[in-house]
Amino acid sequence: MKLCVIEGDGIGHEVVPAAVRVLRQLIPQLEIVYGRAGWDCFEQTGQALPAATIALAREAQAVLFGACSSPSYAVKGYASPIVQLRHATETYANLRPTRFLPVPTARQGVDLLVVRENTEDLYIGDERTVDAGDTGTATKRITRRASERIAHTAFRLARQEGRRRVTIVHKGNVLPQTDGLFRRVAYEVSREYGDIETDELLVDTAAYWMVKEPTRFDVILTPNLYGDILSDMAAAWGGGLGLAPALNLGDAVAIAEPVHGSAPDIAGQGIANPTAVVLSAAMLVRHHWHKPEIADRIESAVNAALSKGDYTSDILGANGMSTDQFADSICQNLL
Ligand code: NAI
Ligand code: MG
Repeated sequence: MKLCVIEGDGIGHEVVPAAVRVLRQLIPQLEIVYGRAGWDCFEQTGQALPAATIALAREAQAVLFGACSSPSYAVKGYASPIVQLRHATETYANLRPTRFLPVPTARQGVDLLVVRENTEDLYIGDERTVDAGDTGTATKRITRRASERIAHTAFRLARQEGRRRVTIVHKGNVLPQTDGLFRRVAYEVSREYGDIETDELLVDTAAYWMVKEPTRFDVILTPNLYGDILSDMAAAWGGGLGLAPALNLGDAVAIAEPVHGSAPDIAGQGIANPTAVVLSAAMLVRHHWHKPEIADRIESAVNAALSKGDYTSDILGANGMSTDQFADSICQNLL
């Protein structure tokens, strides 16, 4: 069993080691290789995602990814490493569960799963400017093939996890050729899963209900951009971004990667919450390595630590535990 670890930038260097500790404790035979990516890597090597890192990820077939800092303006030669890596490894499904955890910041009863298409939509990176930079255009691509496979993933997972309903979230009223296609294909696929209820919401209405009544959602099936935004919203109900896990899943490779980014506002202080990345590792163990008993043990240890009131400062405020102290608590609770 092999794992490629990419810490990335910022708090990636602080939270990823906690997940590595947990995995080493439970899977002593795990072989770990390290790859570089991110803004610091770009500044030092001229590449945000070196070919060597892609090769390591493909070879290991399992990746633990922290987060990379990406500037919000164009930098020649730079593109978001995680978006590139998802493409390079064909991890076409991004699974983002929000299950309320035993913390005061969580909303009781929320238990939903965002299934986000991970390879197309506006994130294909086909963006250009004309008119001396005063007009920008980006291509939104939706294909039948990608919509079909992500819809199957959503319905299959709904069935596996004993969930009742899949809600297709789109903006087909304004974008009938793209989101309309996604919606149509999702409904076609839904006919193969008669035991699962299917309904739909326009993305703006979905955002409204996500804030007002998050417990009404079960599985959300949605294109890339809406999935990115709605999963951060959902994370607020799970207790915060520091607790929100995710898994990028393909047929060959899986990338465990928390929903949060590199958090430059707290990076270097040793206070980031490692829960999101530890729970992402548990998703990798469950859905990619197919070892549910080990995934259960990781999740139980996190629950036990939080249930004791062991909190980092994103949950507690000022006097929270450090990243390492909370990682110790998780490891002590591993049975
Ligand atoms: P962010 O998720 O890094 O931070 C948002 C807020 O949540 C901040 O206040 C941060 O301190 C807090 N937060 C996030 N994770 C936390 C944790 N584990 N423990 C405690 N608090 C936590 O989002 P932001 O600030 O919008 O983006 C920062 C950088 O991260 C940007 O350069 C962005 O491009 C990048 N990013 C990278 C991602 C990736 O590589 N997968 C995903 C999202 C953002
Ligand atoms: Mg995001």
